[in-house]
Amino acid sequence: MNMVTLIQKKKDGQELSREEIQWIIDGYVAGEIPDYQVSALLMAIYFQGLSKEETVELTQAMRYSGDTIDLSPINGIKVDKHSTGGVGDKTTLVVAPLASACGVPIAKMSGRGLGFTGGTVDKMESIPGFRTALEPSEFLNQVNEIGMAVIGQTAHITPADKKLYALRDVTATVDNFGLIASSIMSKKLAAGSDAIVLDVKVGDGAFMENPEDAVTLASLMVEIGNSAGRRTVAAITEMGQPLGKAVGNSLEVIEAIETLKGRGPADITELALKLSGIMVYLGGKAASPEEGMEKTRAALEDGSGLTQLRRFIGAQGGNPAVVDDYSLFPQHTVEKELRAESSGYVSRIEARCIGLASQHTGAGRATKEDAVDLSAGVYVHKKVGDAVEAGDMLATFYGNDEGKVEAAVREASKAFVIGSQPVEAPKLIKEIIGL
Ligand code: URA
Repeated sequence: MNMVTLIQKKKDGQELSREEIQWIIDGYVAGEIPDYQVSALLMAIYFQGLSKEETVELTQAMRYSGDTIDLSPINGIKVDKHSTGGVGDKTTLVVAPLASACGVPIAKMSGRGLGFTGGTVDKMESIPGFRTALEPSEFLNQVNEIGMAVIGQTAHITPADKKLYALRDVTATVDNFGLIASSIMSKKLAAGSDAIVLDVKVGDGAFMENPEDAVTLASLMVEIGNSAGRRTVAAITEMGQPLGKAVGNSLEVIEAIETLKGRGPADITELALKLSGIMVYLGGKAASPEEGMEKTRAALEDGSGLTQLRRFIGAQGGNPAVVDDYSLFPQHTVEKELRAESSGYVSRIEARCIGLASQHTGAGRATKEDAVDLSAGVYVHKKVGDAVEAGDMLATFYGNDEGKVEAAVREASKAFVIGSQPVEAPKLIKEIIGL
């Protein structure tokens, strides 16, 4: 095969075969096909698109480009959950203990945050002592013993996606349905769970800014998952404003704990119950998603979800006392506030702006190599639909560097739009695909 011919073929709008896609991925990972040729191919894909068959083949080629995880030593139907990323999204920290408390084994790999979005691994590392790198045998044993484990992605999973994603990032070819779907699903399939629940975010704080695009992406990922023999369901959920009120690593863990204590914000509680209910159903522990949700609601109300979080933190070397004493988390030394200049109703909170503000406090990273301040972040006091009086607190900003926290306040001051008319809070769960 010849790369120039294959670029030409895609440029002319023809479909690439399974063998051709496999040859490209193998050659790229082996360093035999240079970045400049793959860049040209990506741009041809960007303009011509990938068919469903090509997307499935690309997913499979990337899935097997490195190690895959064998979860068969874990008893039961393993269910994974994945969010396409957003601002204030601490759902995993609530959903995993709830589903696990209902008997669904959770063996999950999570990522770190980049840019204006956060990542579960950074959040968990704000718990003193918590280890996100476990040996494979430790990981499997922990799930068998206590029902859940969450670790950082290992270096050897889907190397093709790592290389391709880095190249897409610098060639303006990230935003293509087939490329996004194959990137996400190759990692999910390599991670080995039997069923997958996808949380596809839509809105200004998400990859997909309009609902039609989110549905297209979600449907494609559901098809890829099901065609690989993994039962896959996707929820399309709101990310026009931050999820919950806390944005930043330890702040979000505290909010997740509060949610498991039954005192969390309404949106994160609703989303966590819905997603974990679907997981309990897919995990064979309920006859319907509705019954699954009744079970996870009971696990929230009787405290078994919180107990599960405590056990999980302890099993991974963290101090479980953080659940009852938030002063054990890393502490900030700088605190600033943003107050409303006029009275009315909050009609918009731009999630992306709040995510960027959180990044400015030190909670997020601009490049993969940056360190994060685990105590830093933003707490949003008002949400869309809330009434405000001039002078009311809109948000508080935390960190350890005056200049950074001030930059965050400046960024976030653009995020709040206050109107004179009452506004309804946006619908959180817009659609479920694949149930
Ligand atoms: N997340 C991924 O893992 N890959 C993409 O292409 C986009 C979002």
